[in-house]
Amino acid sequence: MDNNKEIEKKGFIESPIDKNLDLAFEIRKMCKEKNAIVLAHYYVDGEIQDVADYVGDSLGLSQQAASTKADIIAFAGVHFMAETAKVLSPERKILIPDLFSGCPMADSMPAEIFEEFLKDYPDHIVVTYVNTTAEIKALSDITCTSSNAKKIIESLPKDQKIIFGPDKNLGSYINEITGRNMVLWDGVCSVHDNFSAERLKTLKNDNPDAKVLAHPECNKEVLLLADMIGSTAGILNYTKNTDYQKFIIATEPGILHKMKKANPEKIYIPLPPKNPRMEMSICRNMKKHSMAKLYNALKYELPEVLMSEELMEKAKRPIERMLKIS
Ligand code: 13P
Ligand code: SF4
Repeated sequence: MDNNKEIEKKGFIESPIDKNLDLAFEIRKMCKEKNAIVLAHYYVDGEIQDVADYVGDSLGLSQQAASTKADIIAFAGVHFMAETAKVLSPERKILIPDLFSGCPMADSMPAEIFEEFLKDYPDHIVVTYVNTTAEIKALSDITCTSSNAKKIIESLPKDQKIIFGPDKNLGSYINEITGRNMVLWDGVCSVHDNFSAERLKTLKNDNPDAKVLAHPECNKEVLLLADMIGSTAGILNYTKNTDYQKFIIATEPGILHKMKKANPEKIYIPLPPKNPRMEMSICRNMKKHSMAKLYNALKYELPEVLMSEELMEKAKRPIERMLKIS
């Protein structure tokens, strides 16, 4: 099948790979030959994190994309992250191992509907979470991530009216800690919103010496039980820089890979979701990437993330405004 047709149908190139190949070695070799780098989010599989040039949260990844001198970025993260990299580095080729690795929360905010919604709030500034499509960023005044949301909101005048979306859990949390009253879009991340406060209470009872570290995308009941609330990088750094030895982790369990590498002697308990038959709340989209897909993406330089010049230009302004404040 023609490569582009295969991508249209499956989201990736499935060309057979010799079983004897050491994929990590081959990926690093191609990176050198092609002046390429691999950027990976903490939620992707550990072996991809291990082969990456940089692993980070969404803010760190966008900063890397904006500053790299590489010709090609292979982006192992969800689609909006690779799109942000393209907007910040339009002259580079941005590859994504699986083009269908989307973020349902970003997709819960269709641009046409959001544009209509904004008409009811003409005097409001539009702050959007970076977990949005480029079309939504093009309608925004400034973006933020979970690690800088407080700082971005506090950079705006106290009496400034604000619209925030798509994550209402992050939005409510920021309203609470900044004393603002932002208008919130009704979106959530199903991975984080699904964590169970009841199961957390039991875990806390069974492990009174454990610190609860939560991502602000978690539902309010979970956040109320947390000892620390932060981005993926913030949570990881907390486990590294403290003497505490045991943690209940209320974010996607891909983050445990780096935690265990940094401090293998510490104990990390992933918080389970509400469904009692499930042990972990997994981001299926992040897990769509694999070493084989990454290898083929670098080999064929496909699938590539592409957008019109006009869209990139419009989406760039709110991201750059955020990066300046960060
Ligand atoms: P971070 O910015 O903390 O990496 O979060 C991104 C994300 O998608 C969390 O679900
Ligand atoms: Fe999107 Fe949630 Fe996955 Fe993050 S964890 S990428 S917000 S679906």
